[in-house]
Amino acid sequence: MKDVYLLAYPAGHSISPTMHNAAFQHLGLPFHYQALEVGPEDLSIAMDKLREPQVAGSNVTVPHKQAVMAYMDSLSDVAKQIGAVNTIINNDGLLHGHNTDASGYLRSLQDINFSPEGKSVVMIGAGGAARAVLYALLEAKATEVFIYNRTSEKATALADDFSALGKVSAATTDNLKETIQNCQLLVNTTSVGMVKEGKDPDVSPIPDDYLPKEGLVSDIIYKPRQPRLLANAHQAGLATQHGLGMLVYQGAYSFKEWTGVDAPTDIMFKSIEVLV
Ligand code: ATR
Repeated sequence: MKDVYLLAYPAGHSISPTMHNAAFQHLGLPFHYQALEVGPEDLSIAMDKLREPQVAGSNVTVPHKQAVMAYMDSLSDVAKQIGAVNTIINNDGLLHGHNTDASGYLRSLQDINFSPEGKSVVMIGAGGAARAVLYALLEAKATEVFIYNRTSEKATALADDFSALGKVSAATTDNLKETIQNCQLLVNTTSVGMVKEGKDPDVSPIPDDYLPKEGLVSDIIYKPRQPRLLANAHQAGLATQHGLGMLVYQGAYSFKEWTGVDAPTDIMFKSIEVLV
């Protein structure tokens, strides 16, 4: 039996174990996935554990995605550019750090037949999740990406950081409404609108009437399935997408890294749909 872990803090609420164990069982693979609560002070011990022979690797989530990078023996180019690791592969005691968030997001867009190529995009947020989504959008040849963030300096810094990969700039509050109206993809990468303590906060990261004239409004939030931003977009007749697809597909790409086998994504969707 091979072990796969999720390094998180706290770890209690994660639905990844359900998703991965359903997939392992479905294919009859001798793997088991388990969430490990690892405080920042215990990261080094957790890294030693990942090097043990019965461990195939791990996922990494908040707050460790950046911190684990220092412990890796090698890093994929994607992980380097995004500046975060969400997947670790144990290669005979050597740890390889990778990131499947960007490819997972792109795959979720493919599922609904939306290609970012040639599109003007407004991305809300400039945190860790934003870095992965921005990487995905530029790799998929979006024409231009405008980043809007509550703290505008962070949007500018993120745009600078990715300027070699494509046309990226910070959107200001003054031109935000018009910029959004003229884009074909609006994506929220912040946690604004997400269920907290069991309650749907019914808030949006932008004013309700800031919407594209055409195209897709995408949110990486999956609980609720229709946060306020998506409800507004739906009402305006726009296509919408919540974050469940990104969650499943980032997991599916990690699964492939540990097992060498394509993940049964339909089984993964089914296993967690009832939980969120
Ligand atoms: P993650 O790794 O999940 O992306 P993060 O790195 O802490 O988390 O980034 C959170 C993002 O959500 C940031 O863009 C943050 O904006 P600031 O840079 O201004 O902090 C944004 N965010 C979080 N709470 C917010 C709120 N209440 N209103 C607007 N933006 C918010």
